Amino acid sequence: MIDIDRFIIGFDKGLRTVFAPAQSLRAKPGDVLSESILNETQRRHVASLMRVNHSGEVCAQALYQGQALTARDSAARDALEKAAQEETEHLAWTESRIAELGGAKSVLNPLWYAGSFAIGAVAGLLGDKWNLGFLAETERQVVAHLQGHLEKLPADDVKSRAILEQMCNDEARHATSALAHGGGELPEVVKSAMRASSKVMTETAYWL
Ligand SMILES: [Fe+2]
Ligand SMILES: [Fe+2]
Repeated sequence: MIDIDRFIIGFDKGLRTVFAPAQSLRAKPGDVLSESILNETQRRHVASLMRVNHSGEVCAQALYQGQALTARDSAARDALEKAAQEETEHLAWTESRIAELGGAKSVLNPLWYAGSFAIGAVAGLLGDKWNLGFLAETERQVVAHLQGHLEKLPADDVKSRAILEQMCNDEARHATSALAHGGGELPEVVKSAMRASSKVMTETAYWL
């Protein structure tokens, strides 16, 4: 049964994720580096890439919240909490970088949040093995996605690069941790469906 208190806390966290500025304990990577000179096309392109990554982090918040709401076994929850804290930092870093570049966050963030929350809640119901397996696969796909974005960044945009590199390291660690806590290997058909659904978000959030 879903605990009503946890549901209310989850709902509150969702509203904060989508509408309030996120906070970070760690300093934003690359904050001490000086801003590179980007032309207008490059600036818009990087702001769009960072909008995609910010929406990805909105999804990460929602997945973790959805999973926490329905997970039956609390044994893995401690491990998930540290990862969730780092996801909040990613949210803060990407949001801050979007602002520095004069860009805007995705207007569809409430939709990305709701969809990911529902997916996380279903994963949580399947028990720790599949819940953690789903998480590990998500993180692996995020790593691959971030590596793609690192190649798309203008070579001298060291500030954006520093953020994405740190995020990439963190996500890889989240994947390893989820597997270490007993995450199972998902069927290939599920992995493909996950890639297809995240593609809808990444391609839409580049523009909206
Ligand atoms: Fe993240
Ligand atoms: Fe992560």
